[in-house]
Amino acid sequence: MSKHKNSKRKSDCPSKKKSQAKRKSPESACDVTKDRVRAHFLDGETGPWAKRLAEQASAADEVAAAESEAAATADSAATAETAAAQALSARRRGPDYSVPSSIDIVADPVLHAISTRRSISKVESETPNDSDLREIIRTISSVADHKGLRPWRFIIIRGDDRHRLGAALDEAAGVTRKPGEINEKPLRAELLLALVASPSSNPKVPEWEQHATAAGAGHLLELALWQAGWGVMWRSGTLANEPAVRRLHRLEADELLMGWFYIGAVPERFRERMAHSTRPLPDPDQFLDTL
Ligand SMILES: Cc1cc2nc3c(=O)[nH]c(=O)nc-3n(C[C@H](O)[C@H](O)[C@H](O)COP(=O)(O)O)c2cc1C
Repeated sequence: MSKHKNSKRKSDCPSKKKSQAKRKSPESACDVTKDRVRAHFLDGETGPWAKRLAEQASAADEVAAAESEAAATADSAATAETAAAQALSARRRGPDYSVPSSIDIVADPVLHAISTRRSISKVESETPNDSDLREIIRTISSVADHKGLRPWRFIIIRGDDRHRLGAALDEAAGVTRKPGEINEKPLRAELLLALVASPSSNPKVPEWEQHATAAGAGHLLELALWQAGWGVMWRSGTLANEPAVRRLHRLEADELLMGWFYIGAVPERFRERMAHSTRPLPDPDQFLDTL
């Protein structure tokens, strides 16, 4: 539900009144989505909702614990004060991990998908159809977007259009090939999606923020495809914004080509490998600090 007057594209969902008038008709994709969102919020088993439920259940235990703690606190007050003073005097305290996390990245399907996502460089020929792509795009349009400017779009490249991309890349690189030879790079997948950052002028949203939103759409696309069972790899290269390549994608002057998503089926051998081993995640401490 966008409240922004400047939205470039409107929601496909009918307004509430219209959908109420059509209540007896079969459920639309929008109704299904709304129900899913509602179910997620009401029945979510992770996050603050679950935390609150757990807290209510153990409220009685907490009261008892608090009473015995109160006695102990008097004794340890002096020690706590010293510790607090030390903490304050430290220039950088670092994150506080003394309270354990209630987040379960294995049990939660979304967190699990995020944490296991992999790029697949060699995908197989089967691809999502354009209707599948439309649903994926519908899904990822939830990307965080300052002022709802929607500064991104995708271009579908299939079949012979991949040859046109190869020719444009050759032109950009100044490469001339022998008759019959072609640039095979765009043929590494049957389906490519080009991501275009498409910023508009806004006094409150600088261009870099709009590029960040477009990049976010790219990352969500990779995740959504992964979760839907498709393989994908984001590739850019140094020629993406050369004139010949920009011309082929019919970019406006202020638009930026952010690369291509090479999409296809996940090879069976890759699935087998994934079933037996997962890539270890990097140490999160390198990404997290306090002021
Ligand atoms: C904007 C962007 C452009 C990229 N361009 C290329 C590229 O041209 N060639 C390449 O080999 N990897 C490229 N990558 C990296 C791969 O997509 C991929 O993330 C990397 O191989 C690591 O694999 P992983 O995603 O499984 O961690 C790019 C990634 C991003 C985000």
